[in-house]
Amino acid sequence: MRIAMIGTGYVGLVSGACFSDFGHEVICIDNDAAKIAQLRSGAIPIFEPGLDQLVARNVESGRLTFSCESAAAVRAADAIFLAVGTPSRRGGGFADLSFIYDCAREVAGEIDGFTVIVIKSTVPVGTNDEVEAIIRQARPDADFAVVSNPEFLREGAAIEDFKRPDRVVVGTEDERARAVMREVYRPLFINETPILFTRRRAAELIKYASNAFLATKITFINEIADLCEKCGADVQEVARGMGLDRRIARQFLHAGPGFGGSCFPKDTAALAAIGQRHGTPIKIVEAVIGVNDARKQAMAERVVAACGGSLAGKTIAVLGLTFKPNTDDMREAPSLVIIPALIARGARVRAHDPHGMTEAKRLLPGLETVSDPYACVTDADAMVILTEWDQYRALDLARVKAALKRPVVVDLRNIYRPADMAAEGFAYISVGRQ
Ligand SMILES: NC(=O)c1ccc[n+]([C@@H]2O[C@H](COP(=O)([O-])OP(=O)(O)OC[C@H]3O[C@@H](n4cnc5c(N)ncnc54)[C@H](O)[C@@H]3O)[C@@H](O)[C@H]2O)c1
Repeated sequence: MRIAMIGTGYVGLVSGACFSDFGHEVICIDNDAAKIAQLRSGAIPIFEPGLDQLVARNVESGRLTFSCESAAAVRAADAIFLAVGTPSRRGGGFADLSFIYDCAREVAGEIDGFTVIVIKSTVPVGTNDEVEAIIRQARPDADFAVVSNPEFLREGAAIEDFKRPDRVVVGTEDERARAVMREVYRPLFINETPILFTRRRAAELIKYASNAFLATKITFINEIADLCEKCGADVQEVARGMGLDRRIARQFLHAGPGFGGSCFPKDTAALAAIGQRHGTPIKIVEAVIGVNDARKQAMAERVVAACGGSLAGKTIAVLGLTFKPNTDDMREAPSLVIIPALIARGARVRAHDPHGMTEAKRLLPGLETVSDPYACVTDADAMVILTEWDQYRALDLARVKAALKRPVVVDLRNIYRPADMAAEGFAYISVGRQ
């Protein structure tokens, strides 16, 4: 199969590299010339474990190429995937579909022979219909089908998720398009991955409903964590007891500082907006958004309380800036709310992150960063763990204690055990535990 992947970001690059690894001939296209130049020179613009070797291997084999120009690639392609961003539009929470519609117009002029246009980006219900109408209007003669194929990969485990997904969702009623999609995902059929064919609107909604459900699960356990603190229970015991029930499952029951990232915040907002637009408010998702926003502020207050009620003149060492470990993605990371809140309360903040510092400094101008966690905690009044990178799980606690001005640790990811930290002589505050 010849595949053109338009949009070479976190999803497009991983999907393109994995499709080429399946044996397809893939060209990844992006209108960001610097990104394409980087990829052509052998550099990877994002941090995703394993992606450098995967890309190098497939470039070497000649199956994976990069370009800023879509015309020739679109003409040659059997399937054109759109993996451009669909961020929140300012105000109202609706998804900004301008990148998708730009691509649709761009692609329309070049379609040659039967071509499947696959929308991999997360898009509101009805967007596939709209893309079809745009192309049909521009090219009444074109032979094409528009297919919804939402992506469920998680950053940090993206390659594994793409190659061994729980399911692949394909929304189309066009038999020729189904045949093309079966061929595109054939290696997964061999692995017995369920490939779920649905109508397009269901496929579009499956993605938003799934993300909103997971965001709700996180928010639910966060509220239970607050209750645990009030009534003397341990949220990790509660979560384990709940998660062993197969109807509930243990994933996404980790209490923490609130969800962030490139998907949950914008997708919950978009689903709530879609509900409002259709006159069926999704109140549970609206509540999740409100609870999650308030939680990030509340986490800053937790640090203030741990420091005796005032941060004036104090130095706070923040470990972890990205929204989760094993990615450099800073979009909607809790750190972007918590750090400014700490600074507003008078703190000097010094931060460390294995892969997020460059982007964090762009988003938080003036942020002080250091390249080593021990340098970060030296002479600080408290250490705050915001992201559960593996290297923070194995800190030399005696060294940390000796370096800190005061032995205060606020662990918003529950990566240490309260009893161990007490034994080490720390004042230790975590989430939903005593
Ligand atoms: N990041 C994730 O973990 C994830 C997971 C599942 C689904 N998604 C969805 O996938 C989509 C893409 O997300 P992402 O995180 O990869 O975004 P991203 O911002 O990392 O990448 C989007 C890319 O598209 C490029 N682009 C924009 N307009 C273009 C055009 N007209 N022609 C060519 N390139 C263009 C941008 O330059 C950018 O490189 C979104 O809808 C997102 O919701 C993301």
